[in-house]
Amino acid sequence: MKNRGEKIAMLTAYDYSMARIIDGAGIDVILVGDSASNVMAGNETTLPITLDQMIYHATSVVKAVKRALVVVDIPFGYYQGSSGEALRSSIRIMKESGAHAVKMEGGSEVKDSVLRILSAGVPVMGHLGLTPQSIYKFGTYSVRAKEEEEANKLLEDALLLQECGCFGIVLEKIPAELAKKVAASVSIPVIGIGAGPDVDGQVLVMQDMLGITKDFKPRFLRRYADLNTIMTNAIGNYVADVKAREFPNQEEKY
Ligand code: KIV
Repeated sequence: MKNRGEKIAMLTAYDYSMARIIDGAGIDVILVGDSASNVMAGNETTLPITLDQMIYHATSVVKAVKRALVVVDIPFGYYQGSSGEALRSSIRIMKESGAHAVKMEGGSEVKDSVLRILSAGVPVMGHLGLTPQSIYKFGTYSVRAKEEEEANKLLEDALLLQECGCFGIVLEKIPAELAKKVAASVSIPVIGIGAGPDVDGQVLVMQDMLGITKDFKPRFLRRYADLNTIMTNAIGNYVADVKAREFPNQEEKY
């Protein structure tokens, strides 16, 4: 798709019902992101989610998908220890969920793990820029790589991930000019989130773009629906009907 100049559309999903809708709507890539920790489990960060929980989400998504590529985040604490640990985590994800690839955060720091996972035949996607698993190192969720030193390291890391054999890279919340430079410097697809238009594809968290989450309002987020209002109204109507004895009616009983 990158070679053809066709943009890649990627969204997150964490359960069967939503994955079915997203896949049916023509998405190219579904990411079972560790953002499940935030949007599904209500945690403040992505750090608490476990490998078992990620596999549970991924298994549900894979059952729904007929055409999209399914990529699963290796969660925090399941690949940083050693390349052997990274390999074991990836094998569990692939074997138990049936997903097609794994994603992990970091560049040169995770090189050995990337190589080890790839050597087992598991496709790996990289993730650079704002890497939420390192939030306590960064201290904020603000734009990364604005300074030259960090920008240079990011470009070097992207080239390294490509050289290792990664099939794609997510770039999160970095200046659009830098993202453009990275996408032009590598032949593998670069998927942006808050990385501007000049990359090979875009990814958003499904709950954010559908307007289910309300308080998260970064500049890069476009809301394509206001499901929060639609759902709140629908549930309010149901509650009112039940209370008023208007549901179920004569046709809705056996
Ligand atoms: O976990 C996630 O949803 C992600 C995206 C923000 C790229 O990694």
